[in-house]
Amino acid sequence: MSDTIKVAVVYHSGYGHTLKVAEAVALGASTIHGVEVHLVKAEEAHLQWSLLDDADAIIMGAPTYMGSLSAPFKAFMDATSHLQYVEKRWTNKVAAGFTTGASRGGDKQNSLVQLMTFAAQHQMHWVNLGLNYGNNRSYSNEDILNRDSYTLGMAAQANMDQGGEVAPPSSDIRTAQFLGARVAEVAQELVAGRLALGRTNTPGIKGGSDQQDPLRRGVDAASAAQVLTSLTAG
Ligand SMILES: Cc1cc2nc3c(=O)[nH]c(=O)nc-3n(C[C@H](O)[C@H](O)[C@H](O)COP(=O)(O)O)c2cc1C
Repeated sequence: MSDTIKVAVVYHSGYGHTLKVAEAVALGASTIHGVEVHLVKAEEAHLQWSLLDDADAIIMGAPTYMGSLSAPFKAFMDATSHLQYVEKRWTNKVAAGFTTGASRGGDKQNSLVQLMTFAAQHQMHWVNLGLNYGNNRSYSNEDILNRDSYTLGMAAQANMDQGGEVAPPSSDIRTAQFLGARVAEVAQELVAGRLALGRTNTPGIKGGSDQQDPLRRGVDAASAAQVLTSLTAG
């Protein structure tokens, strides 16, 4: 496969912590051979729609403020409703997410669910963190991958009295790198898989529910009876 896979990391960071996480995610993605990575500030996404529309994977991240994604990032999400959502430009792209909070819990799960729901609205394929819970044994410690034990995405913890040069700590930075590499690999496998199967990416369908499934994936009654018999036989 010669085609380069494009991964975009879109983020907002008010005080520099999520910036560090976003950079680590981008770095992780760039370790996969054949992957081109772009870091995009959510506030500047309106200047880079074509880059995002072109990406094979979009990894999104923002700090958790008041138990949900920060307002500038939400503004970016809402802005995608005009063209990206209406024209289904992001259908079948790979998606993943990360968030940062000052607390270990801090309602960050809610931000990850928010990102996952957003990805589903765009008909994207959500990739989870892919790591076991960390730091849940008497002999484990904070310097472990996924130390705060999230699964939907990556959740970093940055002490609010420390700047982005030290917080979040190395364990979270390494976890973010892991997520970036994992998403890049999944995107690469998806594109290579389509190629191997001789399939093109099925475009998203604009408009209402009456126009859905033009390929008529539904099975007619006669074939259904035949197939079901064979499936239940023996
Ligand atoms: C308005 C505001 C609300 C916050 N709410 C939360 C919260 O609900 N949960 C949490 O864990 N941290 C909360 N924090 C802390 C930030 O998430 C934390 O400092 C984070 O590292 C900031 O990331 P940033 O530097 O990328 O903006 C809040 C901070 C601010 C400014």
